Amino acid sequence: MSFRPRYTGLIERYRDRLPVHDDTRIISLGEGNTPLIRLHHVPSLLGSDVDIYVKYEGLNPTGSFKDRGMTMAVTKAVEEGSRAIICASTGNTSASAAAYAARAGIIAFVLIPDGKIALGKLAQAMMEGAVVIQIKGNFDDGMRLVKEVATSAPVTIVNSINPYRLQGQKTAAFEIIEELGRAPDYHCLPVGNAGNITAHWIGYSEYACKDGDHVTNACTFCKGKCELLPSPSGRVVERDRNGKGVVGEGARSTLLPSPSGRGAGGEGLRPKMVGYQASGAAPFLRGKMVDDPETVATAIRIGHPQSWDQAWIVNKESGGWFDECTDQEILAAQKLLAEKEGIFCEPASAASLAGAMRDIQSGKIIANSTVVCTLTGHGLKDPDTAIAQSTAPVLKIEAKLEQVKKAILDNLP
Ligand code: F0G
Repeated sequence: MSFRPRYTGLIERYRDRLPVHDDTRIISLGEGNTPLIRLHHVPSLLGSDVDIYVKYEGLNPTGSFKDRGMTMAVTKAVEEGSRAIICASTGNTSASAAAYAARAGIIAFVLIPDGKIALGKLAQAMMEGAVVIQIKGNFDDGMRLVKEVATSAPVTIVNSINPYRLQGQKTAAFEIIEELGRAPDYHCLPVGNAGNITAHWIGYSEYACKDGDHVTNACTFCKGKCELLPSPSGRVVERDRNGKGVVGEGARSTLLPSPSGRGAGGEGLRPKMVGYQASGAAPFLRGKMVDDPETVATAIRIGHPQSWDQAWIVNKESGGWFDECTDQEILAAQKLLAEKEGIFCEPASAASLAGAMRDIQSGKIIANSTVVCTLTGHGLKDPDTAIAQSTAPVLKIEAKLEQVKKAILDNLP
């Protein structure tokens, strides 16, 4: 009987593409390796011939993509002797930082906006023993304070301005390429600080890169000269098109171009990166910082993105675009995904699908394309918003057989 090797997290999986040493103590909760789910009903509702996949990052250990970056950031913080980490957060980063700090046996300080954090995220940070500091201000105020305090206190910042974060998050692109056998034509993400869209682009670029000399100018870690690419003879475990593990001679050489050849640079090896913001928090659309961001998607209630310059580089290099979605569009997409596909994501995550659906219908996303939308966080993170917009009534009856039967018969299709 053959056994699949136990999956022990993305650092072990992509060790040769990440800045770790043989003796680095890895702080992991088994993050990464999330499902890439092909949507069945949404494309037909759109009446369009596109393949839409969602990368369900809500299935990471703390329920969001942040775990990919946090395993790297906390691993390196511990390696460098740090005993405390700090972040500003709209919620998910704080939950992730708290969990990985607990795992490492160090302390996490988290600054969160007063009253604008989804309940599930706050519960996580509190249970995981973080020092939760609620400020009378928004995420952008928190980020400013974190940067200031870190200059004089012995704490390591684990927001996405920490370049190790993006190194960990780039692995989502690796997983997508390995599963599809190529890069998608379009990759759609919700954008707040723009760390994640940058990280994905770094991942796609590393995979597509032929000589290791010029990966992408968006990478603040390697600054255009990547030393983390596996050597051409390096043994990299890949998955073939059927999902079976194979050992390849350097993953790059086995990449298949996108059939449409529409990827950046005409090579078909990198997707167009498309970033969607909530209309009330859309600095990339306004072309300048927004001072009072507001949206139901609290995770992306950010007016001063930290990866501003990098995201514009991604935009230019990939030939993608930014757009905005209204709160109504975001909530409608969240509900559609749950009702028609059985996939529950938090509101911010649904911005990727809301925007993609609109761009597919308008033809901006070209027919017959392969589109990946990242669902950044789990729906259980924000139960209040979910319940508030649920229209299906909860039937309240006596605990009697007849009444249960009636409830069933009345509601059969
Ligand atoms: N989606 C979710 C669910 C998020 O939590 C975030 C960011 C984003 C999207 C945007 O990602 O900032 O890399 O562009 N959340 C941060 C936090 C700000 O504090 O949890 P980005």
